Amino acid sequence: MTVDMLETKRKETVKQKKVAWGITGAGDRLAETLDVMKQIEKEYRDKVEIYVYLSKAAEQVLKYYRLYDDLRANFDRFWVEINANSPFLAGLLQTGKFEFLLIAPATSNTVAKIAVGISDTMLSNAAIMALKAFVPVYLMPTDYKEGPITTKLPDKKGLKLRIRKEDAENAKKLAAMKDVFVLEKPEDIAQVFKMRFKWEAKINP
Ligand SMILES: Cc1cc2nc3c(=O)[nH]c(=O)nc-3n(C[C@H](O)[C@H](O)[C@H](O)COP(=O)(O)O)c2cc1C
Repeated sequence: MTVDMLETKRKETVKQKKVAWGITGAGDRLAETLDVMKQIEKEYRDKVEIYVYLSKAAEQVLKYYRLYDDLRANFDRFWVEINANSPFLAGLLQTGKFEFLLIAPATSNTVAKIAVGISDTMLSNAAIMALKAFVPVYLMPTDYKEGPITTKLPDKKGLKLRIRKEDAENAKKLAAMKDVFVLEKPEDIAQVFKMRFKWEAKINP
């Protein structure tokens, strides 16, 4: 057997890890998050399968920012919310299909729901049901720290907004929950993959 044949055989026998990546309807740092997402997919392709789950609002926002087609073209495993239990991501998480659930970006809406235990959308339901089944949840809230921000509109113009105290407090509430990990910026997502799968990363990516 050649080295290539051995490598192919190894890939066939090693069971790939799976991660559920939820995207909510947030325009803020959306393009930056998708760049990190594509980079991670490339780097961990042989070891980790990324399953993408969009909230209904995420589908709209991605189209508004003209990023939908690019995401669709880069990820085969791709679903859009119909209701809280369809696709049944919550069930897949509870039955151990995924290593963890990541929601990035996470809107103030989804963060608020999870913070108080409301599970009436696909991704808030997925997060709460995952936690009930001891499955870790990582989130990158758009509203992380109280204060002014400038977000980029689809035409690249800046829009001044403020992160409300109440929304930042919800993010803090999540950070205090068992098995919940709150991330500040897209680059932190790459660190999560490094930490969770570092021994499996390609030697020569
Ligand atoms: C173009 C566009 C951009 C948006 N950007 C954000 C955002 O950056 N952060 C946020 O919290 N909500 C944002 N929203 C509002 C959310 O999409 C809205 O609250 C929605 O109900 C969230 O649903 P979801 O949490 O289920 O995705 C945006 C909406 C639109 C149309």
